[in-house]
Amino acid sequence: MPNQGPVGFVRSLERILRGKPQVPPSLADNELLRTLLRRRSVRSFTAQAIPDDVFAAILEAGRLAPSTVNLQTWSFAAFTPDLWAAAFGQPLPFRGQRAVIVMGDTHRARQVIEAFPDSPLVEYTVAVMNASLAAMAMNIAAEALGVASVMLSETGRSGLLDAAYLKEALALPDGVVPIMTIIFGFAKGAYPPMPPKLPLDQICFAGCYREADPAVMADWQAQMAAGYKASHLRSSFDAQLRVYQSKIGQAEADLRAMVFGRPEV
Ligand SMILES: Cc1cc2nc3c(=O)[nH]c(=O)nc-3n(C[C@H](O)[C@H](O)[C@H](O)COP(=O)(O)O)c2cc1C
Repeated sequence: MPNQGPVGFVRSLERILRGKPQVPPSLADNELLRTLLRRRSVRSFTAQAIPDDVFAAILEAGRLAPSTVNLQTWSFAAFTPDLWAAAFGQPLPFRGQRAVIVMGDTHRARQVIEAFPDSPLVEYTVAVMNASLAAMAMNIAAEALGVASVMLSETGRSGLLDAAYLKEALALPDGVVPIMTIIFGFAKGAYPPMPPKLPLDQICFAGCYREADPAVMADWQAQMAAGYKASHLRSSFDAQLRVYQSKIGQAEADLRAMVFGRPEV
């Protein structure tokens, strides 16, 4: 990634801080829209416990999420801090107060119907798609109830990148694949600023696919690098990407084995 120098760095940070959701003034006080647009990934929580009824409502939002043919191809492993520590030998990340490991699950439906004959890729995709919708529903329900959250794919030992480890630790049958962990808690301090989101005209088009504007993409990259540097003084966006990339190879092999039953397709 190109080095932007101190002036570019400051400009990029200013642009991040100016980023705001774009809402037509006539809709600005719609409660659901406000909840959706206010949500941020929060990575610092207070020690305040989440009441049982609030957590139950969050899980209920996941249970009632939409799914392909209403197959409900998901499972949720729910944790208190104590349960997490007992399962993984470490505290919940960010001092979270509850966690849900969200899994794509075609095993359960297969006990009563064969919905995906000889189609592991479709089966996996459908499971991931549906479980991700359930995850987002839980995330938004939490937000509506004043509970912040963050989705994680690499908590050390509890997400997409740790699928093989979790298969063993949680005794997952074939057809059950961990996708992400959602950590819940009450936010400590103010929400972080909105990270750089691409403008609508770069991601939405009418008719044929339109390539992104290289200048807009370069600007976004510069903001990502500056934002990361500002929040992780001893690291960088590039370094974080390298950590992520270093885990991908193992995760790819583990997932191929779990989804296709063999390491190579
Ligand atoms: C499937 C998924 C996995 C994620 N994994 C991580 C993670 O491992 N660590 C982390 O700090 N954030 C993780 N995030 C949070 C993203 O970094 C965050 O959504 C993104 O930076 C946008 O910020 P926002 O959620 O505040 O809009 C993940 C998000 C998603 C949807």
